[in-house]
Amino acid sequence: FNEQAFQSDLINWFQIVKRDLPWRQDQDPYKVWVSEIMLQQTQVDTVIPYFNRFIQQFPTANALADADEQEVLKAWEGLGYYSRARNLHHAVKEVKANYGGEVPKEIQQLSTLKGIGPYTLGAIMSIAYDTPVPAVDGNVMRVLSRVLLIGEDIKMQKTRKLFERVIERIISQTDPSSFNQGLMELGALICRPKNPDCINCPVKMYCLALKEDKVADLPVKAKA
Ligand code: ADE
Repeated sequence: FNEQAFQSDLINWFQIVKRDLPWRQDQDPYKVWVSEIMLQQTQVDTVIPYFNRFIQQFPTANALADADEQEVLKAWEGLGYYSRARNLHHAVKEVKANYGGEVPKEIQQLSTLKGIGPYTLGAIMSIAYDTPVPAVDGNVMRVLSRVLLIGEDIKMQKTRKLFERVIERIISQTDPSSFNQGLMELGALICRPKNPDCINCPVKMYCLALKEDKVADLPVKAKA
């Protein structure tokens, strides 16, 4: 497995096909944070108008910190999973109180904020701060379980940790943002759960599942 070639094929493809999404306009860590929290349980198409309204209403971490919880929940209405909004609100108050309203770029400080788990941590560190930290969600596990023929049960906690270790070995050090977003975009557009578009996959030549005709068998999810 040639990780250099894999990185450049993935990143070059991402640069060409990437969707023009509102949270991709700049690298503002607050906007990256808000978008990644919204995207965790909600589809991109649903998130777009909520994200735009939310940022208009609360343009900075300090603006959100100063808002009433009721206003924040009102802006979140329809997105569901309201603990996401409450945790985000709580966390930006910590950012205002402890870091002067600047989202910390130290992984240690960032990881203690309410609602920032390993995925959000990796997304903010890589997308906003260009730091090579894995951002493993279900899409990323699907893509890499196929490319690298990893048959561990993705419902298990330790499997996410396994994927984090794998990504630490293969993540681009020069453009971790495009690398992580490229994996997300590949999972959304090409390496779909059903009917993956392997013909048009930019990394099909590395894909062990394709070679062994096992794409449909991965990822492995234990039956509930
Ligand atoms: N899903 C999760 N994070 C995303 C992002 N930054 N862009 C598009 N889809 C995503």
